[in-house]
Amino acid sequence: MNLKIYYFSGTGNSLAVSRKLEELLIEKGEIVHISNFENENSVEVDVDVVGFVFPVYFATIPDVVKAFIEKLYFKTNPYIFAIVTCNGVPSHSLFTLNKCLNAKGKSLSSGFVVDMPGNALTTPDEIIKERLKNSKNKVEQIAEYVNNRRTKELEGENNIKRHIESFVVSTVAKKLQFSPKKYSSTSECIGCGICEKVCPVQNIKMVDKKPQWENNCTACLACFHWCPKKAVKINKLISKRDKYHHPEVSISDMCLRK
Ligand SMILES: Cc1cc2nc3c(=O)[nH]c(=O)nc-3n(C[C@H](O)[C@H](O)[C@H](O)COP(=O)(O)O)c2cc1C
Ligand code: SF4
Ligand code: SF4
Repeated sequence: MNLKIYYFSGTGNSLAVSRKLEELLIEKGEIVHISNFENENSVEVDVDVVGFVFPVYFATIPDVVKAFIEKLYFKTNPYIFAIVTCNGVPSHSLFTLNKCLNAKGKSLSSGFVVDMPGNALTTPDEIIKERLKNSKNKVEQIAEYVNNRRTKELEGENNIKRHIESFVVSTVAKKLQFSPKKYSSTSECIGCGICEKVCPVQNIKMVDKKPQWENNCTACLACFHWCPKKAVKINKLISKRDKYHHPEVSISDMCLRK
């Protein structure tokens, strides 16, 4: 096995991209959810090709991805690529990931943005269709880079304005809109426990057949989008929107990581 794709995904976009890419790569290996390493202090990398695939949150990389990169211990000198999936505003995510890797003495050989349907702000139906279709073409292009170990400038925008913007947005949003106090279930809840199963950071515990949210939320919105009864309430903005998950990803796929 010579390839590892480490992914994080709340609603399946990043998982679908990882799978499609893996099909097209010459190197064979595995796709692994980074939450599998939640309780590890160190993660050894001993392959020749390593990929990171994850969503953009608040115009930067999710905290959970940052924490994962800090655990990596490189035994090889691999070709490293990354793909961020997002709703049109990747900002400096790939550059921030690269900085985290630089702290390990490594850097990205290539970094790509794949526009996907948004799971926080609503994306109109016609744009959802178009993005799902275009994403497949983009993944084919990415496969070509990875198969030929080609280097490429990171996609996105790395400037001070973008850094300030993501710092302000994420600080305010996490405190006010996505604070643990905001999460609750409505009377529609049937106690099925799907929200607990799909939460990638095990932040939900079922107590007397009702979900209880703890303080470790990474704002992935999996609990909201996968609830079969639309019984998860988070904040006004999210609660109003339609549910979404990637059409080729199922609940059981989301639970595979465990
Ligand atoms: C909390 C949160 C913040 C987000 N912030 C951004 C953002 O700043 N820019 C953007 O383009 N998309 C943003 N998105 C949209 C996701 O990055 C996008 O829908 C992604 O493809 C979801 O991937 P997943 O299905 O693998 O979880 C955000 C989503 C969430 C849940
Ligand atoms: S997924 Fe929805 S219905 Fe099922 S336990 Fe969670 S909140 Fe209740
Ligand atoms: S509690 Fe919900 S939004 Fe938070 S990490 Fe778990 S599934 Fe994602």
